[in-house]
Amino acid sequence: AMAAERGVAAATCTAPVNIAVIKYWGKRDTDLILPINSSLSVTLHQDQLKTTTTVAASRDFTEDRLWLNGKEADVGHPRVQACLREVRRLARKRRGGGEDTAALSLSYKVHIASENNFPTAAGLASSAAGYACLVSALARLYGLEEELSEVARRGSGSACRSMFGGFVQWQRGERPDGTDSLALQVAPETHWPELHVLVLVVSGEKKPVGSTVGMQTSVETSPLLKHRAEVVVPERLAQMMRHIRERDFEGFGQLAMRDSNQFHATCLDTFPPIFYLTDLSRHIIALAHRYNAHHGHTKVAYTFDAGPNAVIFALADTVAEFVEVVRRSFPPAPNGDQFVRGLPVGSAALSQELLTAVVTEPVLGAVQYILHTKPGPGPQLVDDPSQHLLGADGLP
Ligand code: DP6
Repeated sequence: AMAAERGVAAATCTAPVNIAVIKYWGKRDTDLILPINSSLSVTLHQDQLKTTTTVAASRDFTEDRLWLNGKEADVGHPRVQACLREVRRLARKRRGGGEDTAALSLSYKVHIASENNFPTAAGLASSAAGYACLVSALARLYGLEEELSEVARRGSGSACRSMFGGFVQWQRGERPDGTDSLALQVAPETHWPELHVLVLVVSGEKKPVGSTVGMQTSVETSPLLKHRAEVVVPERLAQMMRHIRERDFEGFGQLAMRDSNQFHATCLDTFPPIFYLTDLSRHIIALAHRYNAHHGHTKVAYTFDAGPNAVIFALADTVAEFVEVVRRSFPPAPNGDQFVRGLPVGSAALSQELLTAVVTEPVLGAVQYILHTKPGPGPQLVDDPSQHLLGADGLP
């Protein structure tokens, strides 16, 4: 972690993406990033999706600098600055003002380099992993050992949930200063090994309205969102925790789908309305329901965030069959890239009965690829110095 070659101290961490099954949408404080409701997510495995961040500090650095996926970016971004300021504040508090000569000086400028192991263009929530990773690496650099979801939250609300593995709740908190608005692990990633995740990455489309702006318009205009935050979410959160504790896929899947649908309903209830679901999302939703109806119970569950990719939950014994259903429903271009990526997927033969009932109107090339993954652990420290994104000179 700490390497003091030529006066440069550095630390590298990796952090995961998470997908909410009880959605966060709406802030009661936009500066501190305090939500109007609690939320709950599943942390995805870093073997498939992760951010890696190296932070370095040196007396020789003349300014703070940031590189994202190899390109220099604006280190002055208010949310990056908020994370830096909060980590340094905690480090100062911990040192109690005393002169610890062994500790890294908090006045040194920092260099930050961050990259994803997945294409940013794929529209997979990268800000959650990005801020969780930044805060984890900074904490390591300054020797902080406390839980820092409260700081990651200042980067992006959903980032606080990426500070833990498995199943994670972001408790909204009550205090105006946000000290009780933090993430808590509901269950570790080992809790439900049969639970698998398929990310259906859809072909080139961009986000119409970013979540930060979108959710603020929703808070200002949607009566449905107000009802959701006050009445619906508190009930659902308790139910969802029970379904997870009991590994009840029927309950978990049904509620995940309903909550995704209600989030998108609040977007339609926003004025002017926001549309994140597309014709293709609706195709995928209908497909999942036909598939579940054919089997007579919930075999797959979808959820969509503020973008067009679909995330599907399924138990291990369903993955191969459903992947084949997706392949038949959205036939990939014959000369295209690898259609199934991530964890291996077995082969499955579909009965004529299933094909007739479920694969009704194929849309060519609409799904670019499927990423097969599963729940995974929280941020990890990278010990191997050869994996650092900044060299001994503090440059990428
Ligand atoms: C739809 O965490 O990206 O993915 O706090 O403004 O950075 P900011 O928003 P962000 O919003 C995520 C919204 C969501 C639902 C969720 O992840 O809970």
